[in-house]
Amino acid sequence: MAEEKQNRIVETSASNDDSSLDLCLRPKVLDEYIGQTEIKQNLNIFLGAAKKRGEPIEHVLLYGPPGLGKTTLAYIIAKEMGVSIKITTGPAIERSGDLAAILTNLQPGDILFIDEIHRLNRIVEEVLYPAMEDYVLDIVIGKGPSARTVRLNLPKFTLIGATTKISKLSSPLRDRFGNTINIGFYSNDELQQIVERSAKILNIAIDPQSASEIAKRSRKTPRIANRLLKRVRDYAEIKNNGILNLEAVKNALTMLSIDELGLDSVDQKILLAIIEKFGGGPVGLNTLAAATAEELEAIEDVYEPFLLQEGFIDRTNRGRIATDRAFKHFNKPAPTQNNKLL
Ligand SMILES: Nc1ncnc2c1ncn2[C@@H]1O[C@H](COP(=O)(O)OP(=O)(O)O)[C@@H](O)[C@H]1O
Ligand SMILES: [Mg+2]
Repeated sequence: MAEEKQNRIVETSASNDDSSLDLCLRPKVLDEYIGQTEIKQNLNIFLGAAKKRGEPIEHVLLYGPPGLGKTTLAYIIAKEMGVSIKITTGPAIERSGDLAAILTNLQPGDILFIDEIHRLNRIVEEVLYPAMEDYVLDIVIGKGPSARTVRLNLPKFTLIGATTKISKLSSPLRDRFGNTINIGFYSNDELQQIVERSAKILNIAIDPQSASEIAKRSRKTPRIANRLLKRVRDYAEIKNNGILNLEAVKNALTMLSIDELGLDSVDQKILLAIIEKFGGGPVGLNTLAAATAEELEAIEDVYEPFLLQEGFIDRTNRGRIATDRAFKHFNKPAPTQNNKLL
């Protein structure tokens, strides 16, 4: 069990342990947000223009794997616009009345941030459409034959939605966002900068080699880079006389079962299952989830995007296959021609 928990160090969702860390390490303004150069450039123009016109910005949809900075960016946009931000999540808004209460409490220009927006239910979503489009709320008063609809005007607000699963968003909802931003994985250099910035904030002395090693093993994900930094610091304190050097990093990460390429035991289990149980694939995600005893959601949201990006697996129309790189990584004989053709 303990091992099981430890292995989840690379899981990208925010744990309780992270929340205080997230708060103190979260960049507050666009200039502190590392990487994502193009997004920052576009946002600078987009925000600057809205400010100049004295108007709220258009609705923004942020999507990408967990831990890459969607929530951070939503806060930054609010801060840069000088407006307040109200936070909620798709599953928290159960009834249309919940949404109506939130919307009617907004001040002009406010940002409403809905995390996991793909999990809004249909009825609530339909209330959101006119709110987004015309800043109005249609509410039904009464029941039965005497029921009537009342239209309420809402303040001009900005909706920022975030999702890890853009494909799960209905197209009418997607179409109502003026701006859709895809946040992608970070380069090792960017992650190194993130580790160094976080180390400074946390008062941790770290040399560039150690920062670079943590960066390389962070699944291209800032949240994991921060988490590993903290775990390495703990390790150095207890096992290395408080000295955080390359050796301490390597030992700490080995202890956490993270290999040189940043793959954790679940990544390894997934790849080995494709290679050993399914002859390199193709194998469907459902089958893979069953074979590895991992949740389908976790494989889809957390593991697969990274393994795809790093070229360990490929998607085919018949399922996932392990690539040559995956076979090589585990010193397994190359796949047969059959697999490769699929
Ligand atoms: N571009 C970035 N520069 C610096 N740190 C970042 C950046 N993006 C994310 N982070 C760090 O990673 C953590 C997780 O980011 P978050 O916005 O919560 O991710 P998401 O909402 O996409 O899951 C933040 O607390 C922040 O410390
Ligand atoms: Mg988030």
